[in-house]
Amino acid sequence: MILAVDGPTASGKGTIAKALAGHFGLPHLDTGLLYRAVGRQVTLSDGDPDSESDALAACDFPDSLLADPELRSEASGGMASRVSIHPEVRRALYERQRKFATQPGGAVLDGRDIGTVIAPEAEVKLFVIASLEARAQRRFAEMRAAGREATLEAITADLAARDERDTSRNTAPLVAAKDAVTLDTSDLDRDQAVARAIAIVEKRVRS
Ligand code: DC
Repeated sequence: MILAVDGPTASGKGTIAKALAGHFGLPHLDTGLLYRAVGRQVTLSDGDPDSESDALAACDFPDSLLADPELRSEASGGMASRVSIHPEVRRALYERQRKFATQPGGAVLDGRDIGTVIAPEAEVKLFVIASLEARAQRRFAEMRAAGREATLEAITADLAARDERDTSRNTAPLVAAKDAVTLDTSDLDRDQAVARAIAIVEKRVRS
């Protein structure tokens, strides 16, 4: 069974995907981490994230980079969003994601284009959304808890800029697949969101 979980930054898709993987006993791939690694590698190589050839060269990042805690930073998220607009980068990362999705026994993948490009045949596609305000508040609370400096205004502006870039790019923009079920987590806490996601999957699989 392939479960595709797509949605914007801080919508809760990563938390939901991880929980679904645990519940259904499936391996999980956070595909955003691959784009974050490319962005980080561009920085480490003194490249330009807006140059397609620099970003493509960075797709050869070493696997050890995926464990770099710096990938979780807001700066890496911004770089990932920039390198991800290049079609050559998306092509270079396709095979790895496709292989993960089609492994025997199934998988859960979260990202922006899982249900539309990487695994259009997924049994269940969730499109996880939340209001900009709810997402910014969540990110703000996370950063405060981690002892990081941030203002709500700066986080809101950053999320809005990333949404704009992710939804307006020409190749594989963030868009719900036609057969995706939308889950709005704006007014849900973690456990409620996970319970809804599990119920959606179980209902789809049963029918
Ligand atoms: O999910 P995330 O915040 O870690 O993703 C970081 C960026 O990577 C996001 O702004 C767009 C890009 N991305 C993508 O284009 N396609 C994916 N499947 C996953 C992430």
